[in-house]
Amino acid sequence: MKDIFGQALLDYQNGNYSEDLMTSTNISDKDELPLPYLFRSYAEMPALEQEALKLSRGKILDVGCGSGSHSLWLQDQGKTVKAIDSSKGAVEVAQQRGVINAELKPLLEETEKFDTILLLMNGTGIFQELSKVSQYLDHLKTLLQTDGQILMDSSDISYMYEDEDGGMWLDLNQGYPGELDYYLSYKGIEETPMKWLYLDFETLKTACLTVGLQCEKIKEGEHYDYLARISK
Ligand SMILES: C[S@@+](CC[C@H](N)C(=O)[O-])C[C@H]1O[C@@H](n2cnc3c(N)ncnc32)[C@H](O)[C@@H]1O
Repeated sequence: MKDIFGQALLDYQNGNYSEDLMTSTNISDKDELPLPYLFRSYAEMPALEQEALKLSRGKILDVGCGSGSHSLWLQDQGKTVKAIDSSKGAVEVAQQRGVINAELKPLLEETEKFDTILLLMNGTGIFQELSKVSQYLDHLKTLLQTDGQILMDSSDISYMYEDEDGGMWLDLNQGYPGELDYYLSYKGIEETPMKWLYLDFETLKTACLTVGLQCEKIKEGEHYDYLARISK
């Protein structure tokens, strides 16, 4: 990985904002990911994220913290937060912005226990593909205190496979429709292609049940998105 995501965050943080990240997937064309959005305030966050933050309690883990926007708001509310990310640049930015406990660490290497674990901005993306969901959920379970909760958002993206007549062009041989190849570029440099997973709620709930976790839908967003609470 070249960590161009982290480089873009560092540029924005250091006042060198000149262009946005570009994203595309195997089923969608190029689109801009505006850097200011990755530095959003509470008021600028989608309602699902605001709800997740309001429900956060006890010792909190912000997984894939990015620039630390969620952690900073929680810290301001007097909460105890640990923020982790696998991007070196992201962790540097989160620290520069004032996140007290931010560590360069992939989720599967975290070992502490928490009362609330947050995975926000399509939190299931970090699982990469359907075949890895059980591994990630099993690991998250080991990080939960007895009464702990995981708050995670995602979307049912089957609408992306609809054609203009309302039919579907989904190829069932291609596997689960939420498994995407994700391409990121910045200032003409292309990141190593990644896998990024969107999970519909029913699939997430079934995956949770198979590893002995409960899953409930807390809130629906405006575009097939939802916030789920997962607990033991
Ligand atoms: C879509 S961004 C969301 C950033 C932030 N949560 C936000 O809402 O602005 C996903 C983040 O997850 C991080 N990430 C991806 N895989 C990860 C992993 N296995 N462990 C920890 N962080 C990961 C990426 O580096 C990136 O910062």
